[in-house]
Amino acid sequence: MKIAAFGGAGYIGSHTVRELMDRGHTLAVFDNLSSGLRGNLQPGAEFIHGDILQPTQVLEFLQKFQPEGVIHLAAFKAAGESMTNPEKYSTNNITGSLNLLNACAATGVKYFVFSSSAATYGAPQYLPMDEKHPTNPENYYGYTKLAIEQYLKWYDQLKSIKYAALRYFNAAGYDVQGRLNGLEQKPANLLPVVMECAAGMRASMQVFGNDYPTPDGTGVRDYIHVNDLAIGHALAFEKLASTQQSFIVNLGVNSGLSVLDVIKAAEKVSGRKVNYQIVARRAGDPAEVVADPRLAKEMLGWEAKHSDLQTLVETTWKAYLANGVVR
Ligand code: WQD
Repeated sequence: MKIAAFGGAGYIGSHTVRELMDRGHTLAVFDNLSSGLRGNLQPGAEFIHGDILQPTQVLEFLQKFQPEGVIHLAAFKAAGESMTNPEKYSTNNITGSLNLLNACAATGVKYFVFSSSAATYGAPQYLPMDEKHPTNPENYYGYTKLAIEQYLKWYDQLKSIKYAALRYFNAAGYDVQGRLNGLEQKPANLLPVVMECAAGMRASMQVFGNDYPTPDGTGVRDYIHVNDLAIGHALAFEKLASTQQSFIVNLGVNSGLSVLDVIKAAEKVSGRKVNYQIVARRAGDPAEVVADPRLAKEMLGWEAKHSDLQTLVETTWKAYLANGVVR
């Protein structure tokens, strides 16, 4: 299948492009490189330096490439920033996605795989969280993802674009084969922050609270390896093509790791100290978020294979070493 990857030069996007190409699909990447990296581009996949905020660029690209499938991972994802700068998230995440959907409708794209998020659920009302969990996003980023899922429902009904919305939990790790190691600049997520400390790129980090009702008091999350996420996208396309039925599934591993679990594992793998200060809880952070991935298993035959703590931390550390940034 010909597949256009919007945001395909990003961290998750590039791993997904690699997986789809390994499975024989023909890929073209459309990315504005606002956070995506040229170093993440895969030989054999055409690259268009464009912006989903320019509808004509999107339309001309799809008219020329004529893909059957689209993956959409072009979005801003910093939950905290979305609460102080919602305009940026409305424009890029929502308007950008509508530009993309309209171009798909105009060019006969059949399948649309959307990078959604566990942030659509908001605070957990029960754990593990399945797809029936209420969706009450607590940050504007999570709302933008939920809003786009609603548009997808309408474009399925009115324009017969079949979609898969994949609700990621916490993406982490790097390609187990070491083919991709583009580092996020100024990261806010836990794994890269911990690794920057281990690498000596930052003197210390803050642990946002150790008074949660969790085994060691720090926040617990469901970390999923980016290779597992990529495989989930590939299986989602295959499912859409075989059933012509849209669906929403969680991609997570149904087990939680705490902040201190990650810090300790990073110290063990790197042989370096990770300095941290315990500070107040971060507003909006729930104590624990864990996915119920049963539906993805039933529907796609998908289950995480690389998302154990050792692999998550080891592959991330190797990416920092490969970039020559370890001091
Ligand atoms: C993980 C844990 C923090 C940094 C966010 C988005 C979510 C999704 C994943 C896209 C928490 C703690 C972190 C630090 C810390 N993104 N932490 N010090 O908040 O679970 O989810 O990224 O889909 O939508 O909301 O991820 O990596 O920021 O935090 O103590 O410097 O690590 O409190 O417990 P989060 P995170």
